[in-house]
Amino acid sequence: MGMNERETQSGAQVAKVTPEFEAQAEDLISRYPVSRRSATLPLLHLWQNTFGSIDDSGVEWIAARVGVGPVQVVEVITFYPWFRRKSAGRTIIRVCRTLSCALAGSHDIKEKFCQAVGVDPHSHSHGFGAPPPTAPDGEFSVEFVECLACCGSAPVALINDDLHERIQPEDVPAIVKKYQS
Ligand code: FES
Repeated sequence: MGMNERETQSGAQVAKVTPEFEAQAEDLISRYPVSRRSATLPLLHLWQNTFGSIDDSGVEWIAARVGVGPVQVVEVITFYPWFRRKSAGRTIIRVCRTLSCALAGSHDIKEKFCQAVGVDPHSHSHGFGAPPPTAPDGEFSVEFVECLACCGSAPVALINDDLHERIQPEDVPAIVKKYQS
């Protein structure tokens, strides 16, 4: 087995799994000594944050590590809209559409973001692990999400890991500019 190849319990080799990734995964799994399967969600986050999406190799690798079947891992991925089976844009703009933000104009804000980054404002993710609508150049994805727990400063959007609050439509171009490479 090569330096960067790690074997799943089912025998599949996942070339992109590095020793560093292994160590991070083992650390997460060790936090659930009673039930390894409880590490499924943290491992899904780790995989997606590291590789951009959870492909078949990720499903198999995680399933083997937590001792469940691959179909059970796919069920978790398709239940939570956060997870995706294919990569999204380098920057992901998530606009809250729950009540406070909707009343404060989040639909208009999302449309402005779509226009600013070249995403069709009328396209929607079909869920079940599908990536959010993405610009043709692959730089940005834009999607609606549910409450981001900052209702008092609506409307809000999460851009990668940054929370933006009290967004006004005229703010959008300057916000997007910060994320353009
Ligand atoms: S309703 Fe948008 S953050 Fe809660």
